[in-house]
Amino acid sequence: MTLSREGKAFAPSNIALIKYWGKRDRALNLPITSSLSVTLGQLGTCTTLRERPLEFKGLCQYEGDHLYLGDTCVDPQTEFHRKATRFLSLSRPTPETRYELRTASNIPIAAGLASSASGFAALTLALNDLYQWNLSIPDLSRLARQGSGSACRSLEQGFVEWHAGSRADGMDSYGTRLEVTWPEFSIGIIVLSDQPKPISSRLAMERTRETSTLYQAWPTQVANDLARIRPALLAKDIETVGQVAEHNALSMHATLLSADPAILYSTPKTVEIYHTLWAFRQETGIPVYLTQDAGPNVKLITLAAYEARIESIFPTVHWVHPFEACSATNQQILTPILNKCP
Ligand code: PMV
Repeated sequence: MTLSREGKAFAPSNIALIKYWGKRDRALNLPITSSLSVTLGQLGTCTTLRERPLEFKGLCQYEGDHLYLGDTCVDPQTEFHRKATRFLSLSRPTPETRYELRTASNIPIAAGLASSASGFAALTLALNDLYQWNLSIPDLSRLARQGSGSACRSLEQGFVEWHAGSRADGMDSYGTRLEVTWPEFSIGIIVLSDQPKPISSRLAMERTRETSTLYQAWPTQVANDLARIRPALLAKDIETVGQVAEHNALSMHATLLSADPAILYSTPKTVEIYHTLWAFRQETGIPVYLTQDAGPNVKLITLAAYEARIESIFPTVHWVHPFEACSATNQQILTPILNKCP
């Protein structure tokens, strides 16, 4: 028995410089505020998608959509499986259609690195490839958003702003790329834990919105931060970009801490990194800043020229150059990644 033709795609992961925290519509993943991120170039998720004849079982022995992470069949009871199946149901040609989805991430580290963002963006692109929809970037972004909010910022490389929009149907809520190419821009990833998050970002957002009094200030803060960071990105002003991004991330974590019960993603090691980084910046004047998402891991924001000096305090840092991908043609980057796709 052979499976039907396949759709194949890669999408990069992304790290928010101005965070998305809080939904105005849970079903459509519509955010309360806009947000802005940078993609991680060649680090992300590769997905292969096929329609599966019902009698074809393969390694996964259950009914329904078959999901593989690398060579492993994903347990259908997991949140990952449920989210992927629900997402595929948005565009299933018939209620009986079942898929075989194979996904692999080349991000060298596991938790807290927006794997759901690259995962749903790659799945959206794989659907587009499988059914030859030829959708525009805004259409792809709107669809990916319904899998995971931050996925709508992973359809294009570089700095991407997700416009919150105001429409109830979400048609004005999607990501667009900023016209900036900044080859020296560097993200440093410091992995402290590869354990799953103690509380999902979805639940944490809900609790923050419902119980944190600090959250009332968040939309104004985001509007101010976006107004400052956009021109700083265009001017390639690393000091302002870093300061605004660090302040934004720490403010988001402050709203989490003031939720009831409190949500704290940082571990003692995370806080130790804050202190080491601030002391280093103070002493050396080197423009290096931090950001943190829904997990304990820390990401650094700096320029490639400072990497060696920063490694003296953080020897395990993994550097990513988001704009490396822009120096080659799309095909030169994509072909080797797609060839390694499962
Ligand atoms: O899209 P989600 O549900 O994985 O939420 C992402 C939340 C943060 O990573 C903390 C912030 C962001 O903008 O990516």
